[in-house]
Amino acid sequence: MKYGFFDDQRKEYVIETPATPLPWINYLGSEDFFSIISQTGGGYSFYRDAKLRRLTRYRYNSVPSDTGSRMYYIADGEALWSPAFAPLRAPLERFACRHGLGYTVFESAKNGLSAQLTCFVPIGAPCEVNHLVLTNQTDAVKEIDVVSAAEWCLWNAQEDAQNFQRTYNTGEVEIDGSTLYHKTEYRERRNHYAFFAVNRELTGFDTDREAFLGRMNGWDSPQSVLERKSRGSVAHGWTPIASHRVHLTLKPGERAGLIFVLGYAELPQEEKWEALDVINKEPAKKLLSRFQSEEQVALALEELARYWERLLGRFSVVSGDDKLNRMVNVWNQYQCMVTFNLSRSASFFESGMGRGMGFRDSCQDLLGFVHMVPERARQRILDLASVQLEDGSCYHQYQPLTKKGNADVGGDFNDDPLWLIACAASYIRETGDAAILAEPAPFNSAPGTEAPLFEHLRRSAAFTAGHLGPHGLPLIGRADWNDCLNFNCFSTDPDENFQTASNTVGEVAESVFIAAMYILYGKQFAELCRRFPEYAPFDAAEQARRFETAAAEMERSVLASGWDGEWFLRAYDAFGDKIGSSECAEGKIFIEPQGFCVMAGVGVKTGEARKALDSVMRLLTTKYGTCLLWPAYSVYDKRLGEIGSYPRGYKENGSVFCHNNPWVSIAETMLGNPENAFGHYARIAPAYTEDFSDIRRVEPYAYCQTIAGQEAPTQGEGKNSWLTGTAAWAFVNVSQYLLGVRPTLDGLEIAPCLPAAFQSVEITRVWRDTKYSITVFRGEEIGVTVDGQKIEGNIIPHKKGRKECEVRVVI
Ligand code: BGC
Ligand code: NOJ
Repeated sequence: MKYGFFDDQRKEYVIETPATPLPWINYLGSEDFFSIISQTGGGYSFYRDAKLRRLTRYRYNSVPSDTGSRMYYIADGEALWSPAFAPLRAPLERFACRHGLGYTVFESAKNGLSAQLTCFVPIGAPCEVNHLVLTNQTDAVKEIDVVSAAEWCLWNAQEDAQNFQRTYNTGEVEIDGSTLYHKTEYRERRNHYAFFAVNRELTGFDTDREAFLGRMNGWDSPQSVLERKSRGSVAHGWTPIASHRVHLTLKPGERAGLIFVLGYAELPQEEKWEALDVINKEPAKKLLSRFQSEEQVALALEELARYWERLLGRFSVVSGDDKLNRMVNVWNQYQCMVTFNLSRSASFFESGMGRGMGFRDSCQDLLGFVHMVPERARQRILDLASVQLEDGSCYHQYQPLTKKGNADVGGDFNDDPLWLIACAASYIRETGDAAILAEPAPFNSAPGTEAPLFEHLRRSAAFTAGHLGPHGLPLIGRADWNDCLNFNCFSTDPDENFQTASNTVGEVAESVFIAAMYILYGKQFAELCRRFPEYAPFDAAEQARRFETAAAEMERSVLASGWDGEWFLRAYDAFGDKIGSSECAEGKIFIEPQGFCVMAGVGVKTGEARKALDSVMRLLTTKYGTCLLWPAYSVYDKRLGEIGSYPRGYKENGSVFCHNNPWVSIAETMLGNPENAFGHYARIAPAYTEDFSDIRRVEPYAYCQTIAGQEAPTQGEGKNSWLTGTAAWAFVNVSQYLLGVRPTLDGLEIAPCLPAAFQSVEITRVWRDTKYSITVFRGEEIGVTVDGQKIEGNIIPHKKGRKECEVRVVI
């Protein structure tokens, strides 16, 4: 069952009913101001930091769950309705929610009045614009009241949700014509305020929630809306809001466009005030002057469209498969940018109050957006490097506002350092900017400790080399990619968080997954050393030899102690017992080492790789994707950690943890099996799941973190959509391995691995300064032709200054 459809022309997903199984959201904003917006207009807005600079309030675990923000009430005679359906939830004669690239449009109608509400965050302006157009489609005059409402969050979202003895006293507002200002705590240490304005004269307003709603009513039935009369309230403490009332007289056929702007302003300390208790409104007025007319709004929307065209234009495909086209050209890349902007902070599954930027998350996200925003990726890499410690280990998270490592969570997740090599190498392959290796970054954010990025990478590799266990495999530390394998934790206290519980670092528990990472990224580090010795503050040739040798040794260790006969083992626990072995009662096979070992080339020549992927297919792959492990753990075992805390089939305990499905797909391409590879790709790619949206439940245009696995009662149900590393890896997989357009240090490698159903595809790839127009088709004479010349092999060397390049590939 579907709840809407893809409009490929407009690059939109059109939702045709407000009653989607879960909130189906979109993200507005790509710089500093962000909003979440659901298919009924719910969500919230914030400036840069979803916890510390929250503009509008979201009520956690409320029902329905997507309330809040941009609430509009239309009073048209007897009829009362909302153009986005919520909050009034009156039945509409027409409803559509069109989620597009950085904007969302609601189209609705009732009693001969139609509404179009366009919501977006303009480029270069810290605000959300809501453009509401009402059209009288009857042949009688209509007298209409439009009432808006936004509930302010008192900035710190966590304080706002819990510290009422204080927050009920601090709320302050100012009213200036049609602009309602929120200035809580501005009188003390804050130098920022928010405002909500409309480009019309008001016939009423409210800034106090209780006055607006009435004591017994909710947002779906505000007393002042029912009575058609705003109270003119001024909030003093309690819960400040912003609500406008605008009256419209619409002749038959007449339309009116109202522009609402929810904005944020920051001022230098000495310019905060206009007079005692009167805030300096200049920045707000300046911003509002940019969105007074419908022409201005239209131009801002065009600019936004150009912004996305520029980003997404760097990779596109035309194939006979619409689902593939829409994933590659629009939704997957779009989601990669969302993970760039938001990491794991704010969605309907991430509260916006929790973790900062995950180290491994951010490194992996980068693989998916580096081709779109290489300059911003460069900065991100240096920010990440600066939360590495001198011994090569890394803080597991850092705070985006301060860019400092998060001491509460600490480090000791032993996979973290290696991801830094992964992202730096991918950046250099994309841009050719090897000079980044010489860029200084401090250790532990401490000024004076700066070392070139190259040295950071060396310490990453050296950290693993220095932390090997009894089988010569890397020690796992707190956990590796799988946060729930906490072999050194032994927690029996329900009030302890597995991620931070005090534990022993452990000299025994080892990870086959980190071993595979070490082989793959150790080799990539060695390659950087061979290619770019000029940037190395160390003997690059020696380091290259060291890690080439170490990678080969590690490969031997994996085959000797990490191979179980039919698949790769997952780990050894703190007692040296095998995890992920046929000898185990549960958790016999895990997906992560199968994908990653093959990606690292382990057992490719000797046959273990093929066996491992066949076992994956046999034991883990289902209609809804490939599960993380099998059989799921039925009891909680303190020796394993958080993994057994989840019921069978959920999260790390045997769901389809989408993030690692691309790994086995990439692995299949490396063994030359396009059908298997594409199967792994398509089973979890949202567009391919649209027809069973009632089962999958999350948005059919965004990857989710987990899908309930084969042992779960709700098999096939997705959770935690949007902010997942799946987006980046799925894009790496489809662009570089299935479509096979792969940046390398030697040039652009073209190695498509597509099922027989694809007879031909056309790919456009802007790589460095060249636009490659690549046609792939099937034929007798296999090979690559570049601008009419057949080349040796399949790597097109980068040529400076070449603007365009025609490539024909016969497969
Ligand atoms: C989840 C993991 C997550 C970790 C860190 C755990 O509860 O299962 O998926 O990475 O928390 O937030
Ligand atoms: C989600 C975390 O964000 C990610 O870092 C981790 O690798 C996965 N969960 C698996 O545990």
